[in-house]
Amino acid sequence: MAKISRLNKYLAESGVASRRGADQIIADGRVKVNGVVVKELGSKIESFNDTVMVDDVIVKAVTRDVVVMFNKPKGCITSANDEFGRKTIFDYVKIDTPRLFPVGRLDFETEGLLLLTNNGDLSNKLMHPSSEVSKTYLVKVEGEMPEHKLAQLRKGVEIDGQATKRSKVKLIEYVDGISRLQVTISEGRNRQVRKMFEVIDREVIFLKRVAVGDLKLGGLSRGGHRYLSDYEISYLKNL
Ligand code: URA
Repeated sequence: MAKISRLNKYLAESGVASRRGADQIIADGRVKVNGVVVKELGSKIESFNDTVMVDDVIVKAVTRDVVVMFNKPKGCITSANDEFGRKTIFDYVKIDTPRLFPVGRLDFETEGLLLLTNNGDLSNKLMHPSSEVSKTYLVKVEGEMPEHKLAQLRKGVEIDGQATKRSKVKLIEYVDGISRLQVTISEGRNRQVRKMFEVIDREVIFLKRVAVGDLKLGGLSRGGHRYLSDYEISYLKNL
């Protein structure tokens, strides 16, 4: 989403000069927007779309790191658009931060903790297999879960021709024919949890991500979101 800014404000926020100093630089004809000298004070630009140069050196827009925790409901897709007109995560997260993208994805039928950020490096780092960021899920499956099946999941099962890494699997309860489990994995393969249970002949009937690393969904309402604090953002950066 483009953000319209006054040119002098853009230059000041980018650390080129004070607002007044920026006005002088503009008046002196030292500023180009998309290759064209702009001398009018009060000119506006679209940060992120326009290229601003001072003395022929590009001045980048300063962006503050934004990380949002969203409690995705089931029945919406982790994408900006859907060719079938289904709800997307941006029908819920309506905030005016340019370039806010989901960190990985949750399936249409999966609910729970999804992070969104405008920091591409952070997003890549969190998703990269080498980071081994843990993700914890509440899982419900039909039928009992005997110990040997739990052991199989913990040790790793083969999905898409490759074994999953060791995971933590805890049986919480078995009530009325339904097993409830807590599963923590450190990978993020496509539909990983559902596929892991398929291998042991159990269909997942409910899946909710409740934590990413030490960040917990807590009492965030379904469909709601909150901004992470600077402390939480630095925790993610240091994972
Ligand atoms: N595993 C799945 O099967 N689905 C998700 O959305 C996330 C993890």
